[in-house]
Amino acid sequence: MSEQQDSQKPMSPYQAIGGEAAIRRLVEAFYPLVQAHPLLGPLFPVNIEPVMEKQIMFLTQFFGGPSLYSDQYGHPMMRARHLPFEITPQRAEAWLGCMKLAMEQTGLEPELQSFMLERLQGPAHHFVNSNP
Ligand code: HEM
Repeated sequence: MSEQQDSQKPMSPYQAIGGEAAIRRLVEAFYPLVQAHPLLGPLFPVNIEPVMEKQIMFLTQFFGGPSLYSDQYGHPMMRARHLPFEITPQRAEAWLGCMKLAMEQTGLEPELQSFMLERLQGPAHHFVNSNP
């Protein structure tokens, strides 16, 4: 871990995961799975690089690291940012499934996997905006 640990403060999930390098590895494993998923792939642009960079910034702050996303893009308003896309409960589950697989592939500790997935479940279901 590259970040210095202040012994006065409890470690953030971001630090426990392994900081910047670990978030980047996770996101780089996640999007190829998303792109290959029949329910999710069609929603995303072919040039996935900019989406990956935004997700790295967002997950960094979501898990208690520096506020990279808000510093650059303002208030996350993530539900609003997802409104242009038809997000069904099936797509929310598929997104979480790809994230779980990416966590396994990158060798994240099982306890951290469960913790992160639990934290992501609320937002994923909150972004559902279509229930056909
Ligand atoms: C529920 C299932 C989800 C689907 C189907 C979905 C799909 C999408 C799509 C299609 C985009 C736009 C890509 C583009 O720029 O063209 C996007 C952007 C994004 N998503 Fe999701 N997403 C989901 C859940 C989540 C969750 C749970 C998070 C994080 C908690 C998240 C974080 C982001 C971020 C940070 C962006 C970039 C926003 C921006 O443009 O600044 N997404 N998502």
